[in-house]
Amino acid sequence: MILIIDFGSQFNQLIARRVREFNVYCQVDAPNVATLDYIKELKPEGIILSGGPCSIYDENSPQVDSAIFDLGIPVLGICYGMQFMVSTLGGEVKRSDKREYGFAELAIKEPCRIFEGIESPTQCWMSHGDSISKLPEGFMPTGTTDNTPFAAAADPARKFYGLQFHPEVEHSLKGREMLSNFLFDVCGCQRTWTMENVVKSSIEEIKTTVGDKKVILGLSGGVDSTVAAVLIHKAIGRNLTCIFVDNGLMRLNEREKLEESLTDKLDLNIKFVDASERFLTALDGVSDPEQKRKLIGNIFIDVFEDEAAKVEGAEFLGQGTLYPDVIESQSVFGGASDVIKSHHNVGGLPEDMKLKLVEPLKYLFKDEVRALGEEMGIPDDLVWRQPFPGPGLGIRVLGEITKRRLDILREADAIIVEEIKKAGFYKKVWQSFAVLLPIKSVGVMGDQRTYDYTVAMRAVTSKDAMTADWARLPHDLLARISNRVINEVNGVNRMVYDITSKPPGTIEWE
Ligand code: XMP
Repeated sequence: MILIIDFGSQFNQLIARRVREFNVYCQVDAPNVATLDYIKELKPEGIILSGGPCSIYDENSPQVDSAIFDLGIPVLGICYGMQFMVSTLGGEVKRSDKREYGFAELAIKEPCRIFEGIESPTQCWMSHGDSISKLPEGFMPTGTTDNTPFAAAADPARKFYGLQFHPEVEHSLKGREMLSNFLFDVCGCQRTWTMENVVKSSIEEIKTTVGDKKVILGLSGGVDSTVAAVLIHKAIGRNLTCIFVDNGLMRLNEREKLEESLTDKLDLNIKFVDASERFLTALDGVSDPEQKRKLIGNIFIDVFEDEAAKVEGAEFLGQGTLYPDVIESQSVFGGASDVIKSHHNVGGLPEDMKLKLVEPLKYLFKDEVRALGEEMGIPDDLVWRQPFPGPGLGIRVLGEITKRRLDILREADAIIVEEIKKAGFYKKVWQSFAVLLPIKSVGVMGDQRTYDYTVAMRAVTSKDAMTADWARLPHDLLARISNRVINEVNGVNRMVYDITSKPPGTIEWE
C-alpha cells in the first residue's frame, strides 16, 4: 500500500484515485495522523507527500516527523511535499510572492526511474509560489522548466523523488506514467487492489469486528447504503437488520421496486416501516423549506430509533460512509484533538444511540462503491441510481405538500426519468428530476382554457455535487418530455427547463 500524506492540496483525492486506478491500495492521512509510529505499523511500500496551499515558511505550515526519511521507505514529494522534503533534508527553498501557475515544458535532464519511458520535453502543470534553490546532499536535478531549475529532482540511492509540478492532474500529459513508475519500479507495488479482493477482505473484517453480534442499518435504496448492506449481509447474514423508512415522499412505485430488488433478489433482512401518515400529517400546512427539512429529519430519527430499539441486542450501526467524507473530516492544520469530526450521514442519526459503527465503505470512492456493487451482483438499477435527497419529494414539491401535489410530481418525474433512460442520458447526467412549482398559469388544451401547475425539469452534470452545470440535453428529448408530461399528467399545463448552474443555484430547489 501507499500512504499519501495530505498537506492540504485540492488534488489529494485525485492522487489517491490515480494510485487506485493502478490497482494499488492507498490511504490519505493528515500529517497529525501520520505519526512515525503510525507509519511503522502501516508499513507502506511508498509515501507520497502531497502539495498544499502553504509555504514552508508559514507559521502553521503542515509538517511530518523528519524521521520518516530514515525508515528506508521510498518517498515522492509533489509540489509543497517536494519543498518540505528538500528543506528537511538540508536543501534550500527560496521564498516568492509570485506564483507560477499553468502549463510548462519539462526538459528531462538525467535518466531517472520516474521518467523511464517518457520522452523529453513533456508538458506538465505547475501551481507553486516558492521554489527550490539548492538541493540536499545526495540529490541531483532531473528536470527543469524555463522558470524552475529544479522542477524535478532525485536521490536514487535513498529512493527519494521530487516533482515541483502536479503529475496527478490530466494537464501533466505523462503524469500517470510517472506515478506508475514510482509505484511499480521504485516501490515494487503489486496490483492486488481488485474488487474481488476488496469484497473478500471487507467480509473478513466485518466478521472479525462484529462476530455474532447484531447490526442495524438505515437503508435508503441509494447505492451507498445498499452496497454497505449487501456487504454486511454477506458477512453476518440474518444478524443484519435493515430499516427502511417510507416517509411518503418517495417516487412512483419506488418502495415496491426496492422491496422487490432488495428483499427478493438480494435476500436482505429488511423491516419496511410505513411512516408516511406521520410525515405527511406533520408537514400539513408547512411551506418553509428549512422547516420542512427539519421536520422530515427529526421524524426520521424518531422512527428509526423506535424501530432500532425493537431489534433486540443490536450493538452495531452499519453506515455507508464514503472515503471523501472521511478525508474531509480529517484536519490538515489542526492539532491532534480536532482530527476527526463526526461524519454521520443518513440525514444525521443521533450520536447518543450508543451503537458502535460499522462502515465497510469508508475507504472507498463512489466509483469503487459502484464497482463493488457490480462485483457482488447487485442489479444495475440499484448500482447506478442517481442521488436522491433524504427529504425526498418533500423538497421538490415547492410550497405546501399535499397528497395530490405529490402524486402530480411523481407522475411527471417518472416520465422524465423514463425518457432520460430511453435516450441513454441517465448515467451521463448526475441527476435528472422534476420539481413541482407552487404557481398556476393559463393555457389552452383542445378548445378549453386551463389553469394548472407548472413542472420544472432539472438535469445537471457534476462530479461531486459541489459544483454542477445544467445538462445540455438535445432539444428533441426536451420536446418529447414536455409533450408527454403536459398530455399525460393531469393538473400540469406548462413545463420549463432549469438552466441555472451551481453556484449560484443549488441542485435541489429547496
Ligand atoms: P444541493 O441542492 O445542495 O444538493 O446542490 C447537492 C446534492 O445533495 C443532495 N441533497 C441531499 N442529500 N439529504 C441528502 O441525503 C439532503 O437533505 C439533501 N439535500 C440535497 C442533492 O440531491 C444533490 O445531489
